[in-house]
Amino acid sequence: MSEYAVVEVEAMAVADETMKQLPKGAFLTVKHKKRLNTMTIGWGTIGIVWAKPVFVAAVRNTRYTYDLIQREAEFTVSLPNFGTCRQELGFCGTNSGKDVDKFAKTGLKARDALKTTTPVIDIPGLHFECKTLLRAPIAPELLDSSLADVYPDADYHTFYFGDIVAAYRLESQGE
Ligand SMILES: Cc1cc2nc3c(=O)[nH]c(=O)nc-3n(C[C@H](O)[C@H](O)[C@H](O)COP(=O)(O)O)c2cc1C
Repeated sequence: MSEYAVVEVEAMAVADETMKQLPKGAFLTVKHKKRLNTMTIGWGTIGIVWAKPVFVAAVRNTRYTYDLIQREAEFTVSLPNFGTCRQELGFCGTNSGKDVDKFAKTGLKARDALKTTTPVIDIPGLHFECKTLLRAPIAPELLDSSLADVYPDADYHTFYFGDIVAAYRLESQGE
């Protein structure tokens, strides 16, 4: 385990902070059996669905992450403190786990989660552990034509609605 302290938070109380950081990048971590991978996400949202706090991640079907998240009904999201982990976010957003072990290449470490078997990234910041409640692929015929240019190669997103079963901040001791 790391030097960081776990400070539990209410997911909806950190929604604004989450939405400020997300466009700068967060780590979406997935695990299936021995295969562990993380990728950078910038699109997604946090809110209430089915009377529960939910994180929605959008994953294109061409990602290695897609292969794993389709097989396992959980994922975690790690949002680095504002302005940190820029290099790691860049690397994990431009390299595929199909080709490289991103943990070995970046020095990022996985940390055991509290409630999911999928770990979080061992960095200071906000962390959400999620159990997938719904996988929602895009039905192209239902998509507004104004979004057609987001999918020139038909590499559509699937939306993963994750019940946030644990939400906390990892803080350096003494912060
Ligand atoms: C800032 C940033 C945000 C990104 N957001 C997303 C996203 O929300 N959804 C997505 O499918 N890909 C997103 N990507 C692209 C993936 O991170 C990238 O294709 C990655 O290499 C996929 O890794 P994988 O093949 O190991 O899953 C983003 C990349 C960057 C740099």
